[in-house]
Amino acid sequence: MASQLQPATFAGITALFHRVSGIRLVESKQALVYGRLQKLALDCGQGADVEAFAQKFIRGEVPERLLADLVDRLTTNETYFFREPQHFDDLAVRAAAAKSAGEFNVWSAASSSGEEAYSIAMLLGDRLGLSHPWQIHGTDLSTAMVEAAKVGLYPMERARNVPADYLKRFCLKGQGPYAGQVLMMKELRAKARFQTANLMQPLPTSLPRFDVIFLRNVLIYFDGPAKADIVRRVIERLKPDGVLYTGHAESLTGLDLPLRAVASAIYQHG
Ligand SMILES: C[S@@+](CC[C@H](N)C(=O)[O-])C[C@H]1O[C@@H](n2cnc3c(N)ncnc32)[C@H](O)[C@@H]1O
Repeated sequence: MASQLQPATFAGITALFHRVSGIRLVESKQALVYGRLQKLALDCGQGADVEAFAQKFIRGEVPERLLADLVDRLTTNETYFFREPQHFDDLAVRAAAAKSAGEFNVWSAASSSGEEAYSIAMLLGDRLGLSHPWQIHGTDLSTAMVEAAKVGLYPMERARNVPADYLKRFCLKGQGPYAGQVLMMKELRAKARFQTANLMQPLPTSLPRFDVIFLRNVLIYFDGPAKADIVRRVIERLKPDGVLYTGHAESLTGLDLPLRAVASAIYQHG
């Protein structure tokens, strides 16, 4: 049996995915696209004809929630706690400076399953205390990821980068049916709000102005013009002296953005 789509079908699916997410899937993702479609077809009882299933998407013959499910499955959600620690060192300094000021808001702008947002929350819980007026906003394209982030429950091995002291103070070790898992403490979860948002579209008006924005390991999926559009839209939400963190593998050079680098993968308006 064929294990890849007809070229025109692959092109149709990648065009559809690009329209919804802004992400271009390259030729080398053929097997990935086929595999994810095949699994989705099985999961929703659509049989084994992946080619026919794919064509239904292209013709717009599937309900919206199924399209959202496909987009979720084609998106790379890899993330982990305290990823790229230099940003957390920088955040610690900024948080300390904000201690005597008012509220402190941080946005995890492609929050995936929430590890980035909760890493920020633990650090602010440590440096500012849980009663200080700080808040984390987490947004992601994927509804499944946003729902997982709201729950805040992770396999214990995923928490291996969480400092032992933070694990003790901000996380609960699962018991009984939750053995082997770790739950973010209720007080920490109360400081983090998650919602869906597509960075390619106008952003939710409910988002406040931010002191720090984490826009990490998502720009890598976009071409130059789309990348510049996203960054422009995102930095409109920065406070005048706020900073933007990007992934260390993501370059903004040559994009003509109103930003200046203040350190590696750390930017300020200017
Ligand atoms: C690799 S994860 C990065 C997670 C986290 N920021 C980190 O650095 O660990 C990329 C995330 O970007 C999200 N994403 C992809 N395209 C997006 C878009 N157009 N708008 C919002 N989020 C998007 C994906 O759903 C995925 O959860």
